[in-house]
Amino acid sequence: MKESVREELSARGHSRRSFGRAAALLTAGASLPFYNEFALAQRAARVEPPADAVRISSNENPLGPSEKALEAIYAVAKNGGRYGAADTRAYVQLASSLDGVKPNYVTPYAGSSDPLYRSTVAFTSPERSFVMGDPGYEAGARAAEFIGAKVHRVPLRKDFSHDVQAMVKADPNAGIIYICNPNNPTGTMTSRADIEYVIANKPKGSILLLDEAYIHFSADAPGTDYVAQDKDVIVLRTFSKLYGMAGIRAGLAIGRPDLLAKLNNFGAGMLPVTGTAAALASLQEKDLIEKRRGINKNIREDLFSWMHKKGYKFVPSESCKFMLETGRPGREVWEGMMAKGVMIGRTWPAWPTHVRVSIGTQEEMNKFKAAIATVMG
Ligand SMILES: Cc1ncc(COP(=O)(O)O)c(C=O)c1O
Repeated sequence: MKESVREELSARGHSRRSFGRAAALLTAGASLPFYNEFALAQRAARVEPPADAVRISSNENPLGPSEKALEAIYAVAKNGGRYGAADTRAYVQLASSLDGVKPNYVTPYAGSSDPLYRSTVAFTSPERSFVMGDPGYEAGARAAEFIGAKVHRVPLRKDFSHDVQAMVKADPNAGIIYICNPNNPTGTMTSRADIEYVIANKPKGSILLLDEAYIHFSADAPGTDYVAQDKDVIVLRTFSKLYGMAGIRAGLAIGRPDLLAKLNNFGAGMLPVTGTAAALASLQEKDLIEKRRGINKNIREDLFSWMHKKGYKFVPSESCKFMLETGRPGREVWEGMMAKGVMIGRTWPAWPTHVRVSIGTQEEMNKFKAAIATVMG
């Protein structure tokens, strides 16, 4: 770690011990039990599902990479013996132009967990906290706790949006206000007016970390225009969800260059050529988002109308997952479903009787319907 980085970490209240933890977080990252959705889902499951189980536990996209992305992977893999075989510059150029920012406002990563952790190390510390909605995606908070930062979990409002007034008031020394939009696990949106409220009222020196892992499933506008306006906002994107590339790995951090530079104080990872080539090919497919959003929406709406007829309570989601109220400890329902070969998602401590269910293919959701009807009784 560079001396200037150590000095900056000390100024934010890090001790020698937490330097080590920050370094471990960024280097050991993927082996940590809270690294990403898959690690969190596996940890919650505690058992290995049978090979033929329906897996609707980790918000993965059963469609996988698009045809064009697969072709790009095959083509670039042949040159995989070279370090610089993928066209990273074209990828960054296209990604930035699609979001209306300059290319130096975009840094590519192998997924979005990496910049989520880097942001946590760069902007939180024992003196600067991490503020999030509850229930919300846990990885950033776990990373913050790992390096000794306090986490403030602010309950979502009754309409399941982030309670931005309470979030900005949670701690005058907050380092990160984290908003996942649409939220994981609820799939619900927080409005642009609310996001603007955070930008205008957040504690001095903090950033808004806007996690848009699932934004492609919603028809609402993304938040990159705030980045273009040079606000203290970092937007995270991933190709793991709508683009079906969770195992291929590609993601982006979009922010003002001075904010992004703080993420890269801790070294910049090498990108897999396959991920970069597939991400570029995916962005070049003009109708891909709309097509896949439509597929997800049709399957989701079919399921929601079925559940509505059954009288089930659930959170109306605009994303590839939703929360189902089971009326009993969620783990019991999880186990009942697992016994029927359907692996659903976990529960959150704030909502112990809900389980999260990812939207799979129509066939998978038909199996889900058959299983849940018996398990719910
Ligand atoms: C809200 C959110 N952010 C970030 C991630 C990280 O995903 P990845 O590292 O695959 O981009 C996930 C994974 O599920 C997620 O749900």
